[in-house]
Amino acid sequence: MAEVRQRKGASKEPKMTKPVQSEEPEEPLPKKPTANERVRTEDDVNVPLEVGRWIVFLVIAFCGLSWLATQGESFVFNSKNLARWTKLEWWKSHFKEDQLFTLEELAQYDGSQDDTPIYLSINGTVYDVSANRRTYGPGGSYHWFAGVDASRGFVTGCFSTHRTLNMKGAEIMFMPIDDPETDAQFDPEELANMREKELEGAQKKVYDALKHWADFFAKSEKYFRVGTLVMPEGWQDEEPPEMCDVALKGRKKRKLLKKED
Ligand SMILES: *[C@@H]1O[C@H](CO)[C@@H](O)[C@H](O)[C@H]1NC(C)=O
Repeated sequence: MAEVRQRKGASKEPKMTKPVQSEEPEEPLPKKPTANERVRTEDDVNVPLEVGRWIVFLVIAFCGLSWLATQGESFVFNSKNLARWTKLEWWKSHFKEDQLFTLEELAQYDGSQDDTPIYLSINGTVYDVSANRRTYGPGGSYHWFAGVDASRGFVTGCFSTHRTLNMKGAEIMFMPIDDPETDAQFDPEELANMREKELEGAQKKVYDALKHWADFFAKSEKYFRVGTLVMPEGWQDEEPPEMCDVALKGRKKRKLLKKED
């Protein structure tokens, strides 16, 4: 019995649906939406519906782009976290010639105005560091470096006083302290040779330390080059600022050597 019923049902179903399907279109068509209508009248576009679709599409596209551009941080473009490539400066840095800056011009980009990018210079190359406004802007821990070339400060750690490109004498921080007792072990020539080597080594350390930071900005994903600093004539002859304690505390006495003969 069950089998019979099932068969009956199974054979009925197609019969039941077929007539319904073929009959249905004729009546409810006028009320039923677009898909069929469109086929019938291609020129006759349902304007409000099309507009609605475009709005939905644009909103989704907008949010999606925003999400990409802010690197997953926002669905509604937010100028604080836009990716580099959404910024005019990024494109400028790739297609425009280097901008030249005097110290005065560079100083205007220290972040004190919200709508102005933050620039810093390292060894004479100017970078846009606006991507990290919190650090380089007012109140940030590296605000010392904003709007200046503080190459010396990068190397010495004397942030507040060494906001200059003048590296003269910075190697002293890597030199041993002269100590009469120790130095008495050596004859003057020996001592002079030694000092010369120490000086060379210390200068190389300064160079390497500065290069480390120059490379850091050059290779950064977040920051990009905007130009070159043009220093005033004769800047190299100026007296550099004094060393601060931070820079000098690493100095040690010259090592005592046992003379062999
Ligand atoms: C700094 O710039 C000068 C002049 O362009 C260059 O000769 C020197 O090698 C640079 N120093 C470092 C550490 O890159």
